Amino acid sequence: MATQEQILEALKQVKYPGYSRDIVSFGLVKGVEFVAPKGTVISVELSTADANIPRILQEQIVETVCRIPGFSEEQRPVDVRIKVNAPAQPAAQAGSLPQTGLPGVKHIVAVASGKGGVGKSTVAANLTAAFKSLGFKVGLCDCDLYGPSMGLMFGTAERPTMGDDELINPVEVQGIKLMSMGLLVEDESPVILRGPMVTRYTQQFLRSVNWGELDVLVLDLPPGTGDIQLTIVQTLSLSGAVIVSTPQEVALIDARKAVKMFHKVNVPILGIVENMSYFLCPDNNKRYDIFGSGGGRREAEKLGVPLLGEIPLEMAAREAGDQGKPVVWRDSSTLTAKTFVAVAEKLKNILFG
Ligand SMILES: Nc1ncnc2c1ncn2[C@@H]1O[C@H](COP(=O)(O)OP(=O)(O)OP(=O)(O)O)[C@@H](O)[C@H]1O
Ligand SMILES: [Mg+2]
Repeated sequence: MATQEQILEALKQVKYPGYSRDIVSFGLVKGVEFVAPKGTVISVELSTADANIPRILQEQIVETVCRIPGFSEEQRPVDVRIKVNAPAQPAAQAGSLPQTGLPGVKHIVAVASGKGGVGKSTVAANLTAAFKSLGFKVGLCDCDLYGPSMGLMFGTAERPTMGDDELINPVEVQGIKLMSMGLLVEDESPVILRGPMVTRYTQQFLRSVNWGELDVLVLDLPPGTGDIQLTIVQTLSLSGAVIVSTPQEVALIDARKAVKMFHKVNVPILGIVENMSYFLCPDNNKRYDIFGSGGGRREAEKLGVPLLGEIPLEMAAREAGDQGKPVVWRDSSTLTAKTFVAVAEKLKNILFG
């Protein structure tokens, strides 16, 4: 016969899906009982909106308990009873810090992608510029420690300053508050922050910036689902995420991973922006679907979220980025600029009604 203690000990091997912590240390196991002759009842209580989690846990618990040496025939079957509560503060219940907002900031919107180089920073910069043109008070934070690009995109080499209140004053360009997480890391020094240090830096950083009153703060996340992204989604209360992808399957596969990360902590996906959707040849006005077509639309339908826009590949967008002026401002007559403004208008309706 396996004892209750042995069963609890064994359950410490069951990790909460997506986390490195186990269900016992998270405090989710509420009871282990032998109910002769029926078997072993294991009670678990958790909060999630993801229907897969109870199912995965159920399977893993049964498998783990049945593997305990000494877990005898008369202790079977293992009856796992999972009580699922509606998540109020999802990240908090998963055992991490509670998600909180930033004082004075109405909406925090993350721009994310799974794959690198799909145009996140371009989308983030242009959406911010478009929001500003729509009359909003906006800020933009480049959350990439390793390759900050916001200063370049807005054509400023200005450094943030430290205020008397020990808060960092963001750089301002045309009334937009700009901040880059990489700016406080010395130019020449290789950035070797890893794991817990990145987590701590990220947590402190966003709260040490004097954002003032903002309608929208746009966060340009690094590609993928690393420490910075996880820290942000777990500790900041985001209004939602905009997922950027190209129409290519390789980009969409990674975009799905990013979507999963947001779902896990119940951050709504505001929609998908398909970038580099097509190229309209200026010589003959012919459309070329360089990276394929319809991928973003299909993905949005599958996820049940809006396709916010299909941004064409346009030389003006790249040139504008390189010249430090978002294309929305540099040349508002271009197709990219018009599409970005339309995306910002859709987001405005989603966020402000
Ligand atoms: N619609 C577009 N038309 C033309 N060029 C574009 C477009 N979108 C992005 N680019 C160009 O592609 C390059 C990569 O874009 P960007 O830096 O925005 O990608 P990213 O996803 O932020 O990359 P990273 O993953 O490295 O952060 C840039 O040179 C940018 O100017
Ligand atoms: Mg980028």
